[in-house]
Amino acid sequence: MSHKYRILLIVSGGIAAYKSLELIRLLNAISCDVTCILTRGGKNFVTPLSLASLSENKVYEDLFSLNDENEMGHIELSKNCNLVLVAPGSADIIAKMRAGIADDLATTVLLCTKKPIFVAPAMNVRMWENAATRDNLQELTSRGVNFIGPDKGEMACGEYGYGRLSEPNTIANYISDFLISPQEPQINTEVSSQLLFGKKAVVTSGPTHEAIDPVRYVTNHSSGQQGHAIAQALSKHGAETVLVSGPTNLPNPNNIKVVNVKTAIQMLDACEKEMPADVVVCAAAVTDWRIEAPSKQKLKKSEKVKSLKLSENPDILAHLGQKRKNRPPLVIGFAAETEDVIKNAKKKLFEKSCDWVVANKVGADTNTFGGDRNKVQLINKTKTESWPEMSKADVGNRLAIKVAEHLSDLKP
Ligand SMILES: Cc1cc2nc3c(=O)[nH]c(=O)nc-3n(C[C@H](O)[C@H](O)[C@H](O)COP(=O)(O)O)c2cc1C
Repeated sequence: MSHKYRILLIVSGGIAAYKSLELIRLLNAISCDVTCILTRGGKNFVTPLSLASLSENKVYEDLFSLNDENEMGHIELSKNCNLVLVAPGSADIIAKMRAGIADDLATTVLLCTKKPIFVAPAMNVRMWENAATRDNLQELTSRGVNFIGPDKGEMACGEYGYGRLSEPNTIANYISDFLISPQEPQINTEVSSQLLFGKKAVVTSGPTHEAIDPVRYVTNHSSGQQGHAIAQALSKHGAETVLVSGPTNLPNPNNIKVVNVKTAIQMLDACEKEMPADVVVCAAAVTDWRIEAPSKQKLKKSEKVKSLKLSENPDILAHLGQKRKNRPPLVIGFAAETEDVIKNAKKKLFEKSCDWVVANKVGADTNTFGGDRNKVQLINKTKTESWPEMSKADVGNRLAIKVAEHLSDLKP
C-alpha cells in the first residue's frame, strides 16, 4: 500500500512498549509508512519481529551494523521521514536527548535529525516527577520538541499519577493533526502535555454579584464556562492553577484550587493573595459598579426606591497589568463586546496595560453567554489572530498552548 507520509518511530525501553504495535496500525490507517528503531531497552519489552511484521519494514537496532549497502544509515534514517516519533519515550532517552548523547542508533538519529520530533513519554510517576525529568522536559520543549502526554492513571507498577503513555489513538490523532496542518498549534483537548509544569496560573471566571440588599444583587449574564475551561486547560498542561470564581452553576474542576468569591472587591483581593504567578487570565465578567451603601435589611416595596447610588468597582485587569513588583510576566484580559470588537479590544489592551486580549462578541445575536462554543480573536500589541469557531474547551486548550509557547520564549 502506498502511504502519503513517512514516520520514524523510536521504541524505547518502557513497559508500555507493547502499545507501539497498536500505534503502528493506527499510523498506517492515517496513511503513514512507519519505520522503527528499537533501542536496547525497548528490545526487552517488544520483539523486532513483531514491529517488522506490523510495520512491514525492516526494524533498525544497531548503529554499527550495515549488512547491506542498500540499508539506511543513521543520517539517511534521520532525513527520510516527515517526522520522528519516540513512543514510548523512556526517562533515559529523554535525558540523553537533552544532553545530546549519541551512544546508540536512536539517540544518534535524534541528534542529527532536522525533522520535527514528537515524544510520548511513559514512565513511573516518581520518575516523571523527578526534578531531572522536569528539567529535561522544559529544556527540550524550549528547543521545539513536542510532547504528547503522558496521561494520569493507574500504572503497571501499581502506583497512580502522571506517567502513563497516552493512548495510541490519542498519539495518532495528534500526529495526524500535525501532518495535515504543520503550522497550526495543536488542538487536542484529550492531550495533557505538561508544557506548563512548574508554572503558576491564576484565572478569574464567572460574574460578580454586587448586593443591593441581603436578597437582591446586580450582575451580568456570564456563565463562567469559558473561564473554567481555560483554568482546566492550563491545569491539564501542567500549570499549578488557581481559579478565582464568581458565583456560577458550574461544578468545581478537578485538581484545581478554587477560590469562590461574590464581589469584585473580593475577586481582586483573592487574585492579589495568589501573586506571584506566571500568567493571569482575567476571564471573569466583573460587574463594573457596586451599590454604594447596600441595605443591611431587605428593602420593602413600600420604601419606593427610586434610584441606586453606584460606585465604580476596582478594575482587576488594569490593576494586575500595571507595572509593579510581582507583575505576572503574562497578563491576559477578555473583551466581551457587542460592537467594534477588535477596535474596543485593542483599546482595552493599551488602556489596561495587559499583554494579550481575547476578544469575543456578545449580545442577542450570539450564543457566547451560556453557550458552549466561542469564536474569538487573540490580540497582542503587534497582531490579531482570528480563531475559527470552536468549543470553549478548545479555546482554553489553544490558549494554554499559546501561553506555554510564550512563557518558554521568555525563559532567560
Ligand atoms: C520491568 C521494567 C520496566 C521499566 N519501565 C520503564 C518505563 O516505563 N519507563 C522508563 O522510562 N523506564 C523504564 N524502565 C527502565 C528503562 O528500561 C531503562 O532506563 C533503560 O535503560 C531504557 O533504555 P532506552 O531508553 O535506551 O530504551 C523499566 C525497566 C524495567 C526493568
